[in-house]
Amino acid sequence: MKAYRASLLWFAPHSEGPAKALFEKDGLLVVGPDSTGLQVVQAIGSWRALSERFAQVPTEHLLGRIIAPGFVDLHVHFPQTNVIGSPASGLLPWLENYTFPEEKRFASNEYSAESATFFVDELLRNGVTTALAFATSHSTSVNALFSEAQRRSLRLITGLCLMDRHAPADLLNQPASGSRVDATEQSLLDSEALIQRWHGQGRLGYAITPRFAPTSTDAQLRGAGELAARHGDVWIQSHVAENKDEIAWARELFPQSRSYLATYADFGLMRKRAVYAHCIHFDDDDRALMRDTGASAAVSPTSNLFLGSGFFDYAGADRAGFTYGLASDVGGGTSFSPFHTMLAAYYVGREGQTKQGLSLSPQQLWWQHTAGAGAVLGVKGADGQALVGNLLPGCEADFVVLNPQATPLLARKTSVAASLDELLFSMIVLGDDRLVERTVISQGLSS
Ligand code: GUN
Ligand code: ZN
Repeated sequence: MKAYRASLLWFAPHSEGPAKALFEKDGLLVVGPDSTGLQVVQAIGSWRALSERFAQVPTEHLLGRIIAPGFVDLHVHFPQTNVIGSPASGLLPWLENYTFPEEKRFASNEYSAESATFFVDELLRNGVTTALAFATSHSTSVNALFSEAQRRSLRLITGLCLMDRHAPADLLNQPASGSRVDATEQSLLDSEALIQRWHGQGRLGYAITPRFAPTSTDAQLRGAGELAARHGDVWIQSHVAENKDEIAWARELFPQSRSYLATYADFGLMRKRAVYAHCIHFDDDDRALMRDTGASAAVSPTSNLFLGSGFFDYAGADRAGFTYGLASDVGGGTSFSPFHTMLAAYYVGREGQTKQGLSLSPQQLWWQHTAGAGAVLGVKGADGQALVGNLLPGCEADFVVLNPQATPLLARKTSVAASLDELLFSMIVLGDDRLVERTVISQGLSS
């Protein structure tokens, strides 16, 4: 066991309502192994209440520091690290001119491995301890990212990008050499093999990953839905309703479905543990479909602002009651930093010309990138408690140590914060990787 004395930020259980932050200025966090050897939170609370009970436990004193849950990135593209900051007139030209050419490079084992190391370093430097990530259509990229995450004990979910049309030929899923199985069928067999190899290994999970409906045939989406039905505990990830031209294209290709989103439902790809990036241009029937199927949105505000895609309608989502959390969407997104993402989410919430504008509280923003995003992923213990994105007893001990004095301006601003909301907002608005002094990962299963 090990204890940390510091200021502590975490969230009340979901049953007490969303986004209720708890804060102890002088707190104690105690971590120790669970029955499998994974480090989990044993106790959290005020130093005064807990110090006697844990007097024998070695304690690290982190004066002036804030310990908070590790961030959860609900949608990020590992092969798009080099694509950050590539300007285009919109999503489709951006894919064609920058993203697809870069993703072709991941056919190489060496390039995939080097990129995976850099990517995981960057997540951890920014305080991200759980990610639902896209790889490319090459198994090499999936194996490289899983291997690196396993080596570092990161909780990571990824999968083979399914794409059997409308992309450059060498980026489409390929048939196996000498096999009579076609590329579409092979992509599903490869997904199945990757599930068997990686899903549930330590902290790794598999996501069935059709890139988006326009780059899959009916047969591939149908197969992906069948795979999802056979493996109820794997995740599903894709993109939807991001950009007007994308939507028009998806409607042309799948006219039989009621809407672009409904296309996924029609192929059996909407359920709990299905996470759709963007979800911007929805009507109320789409929102109801999200709620009724249990699917969730990965809100990707820096990406949506950078690519000019639009503004996620928070009030609409809450009115319907579907779940969502925050995501960087690197490389459409412009930053790995959860602080940049939370600030962009605030701007997106404020926007009031295309939908109702509102002012998200700093507790809501922080929750959407930690416990709220953890709830979306649905990693739960035997008692049904979410294990990721929070520091309640039993949660996996993934956390960040924040230094609110990290820059002169942060030090000046946080020192005059008169409330928890003011403190959190100061960090959201002024923070970046410099604020994250240390990222601690719950070691155990894979070591
Ligand atoms: N839609 C299909 N592929 C992508 C992608 O790589 N990034 C984003 N932002 N949208 C997509
Ligand atoms: Zn994306």
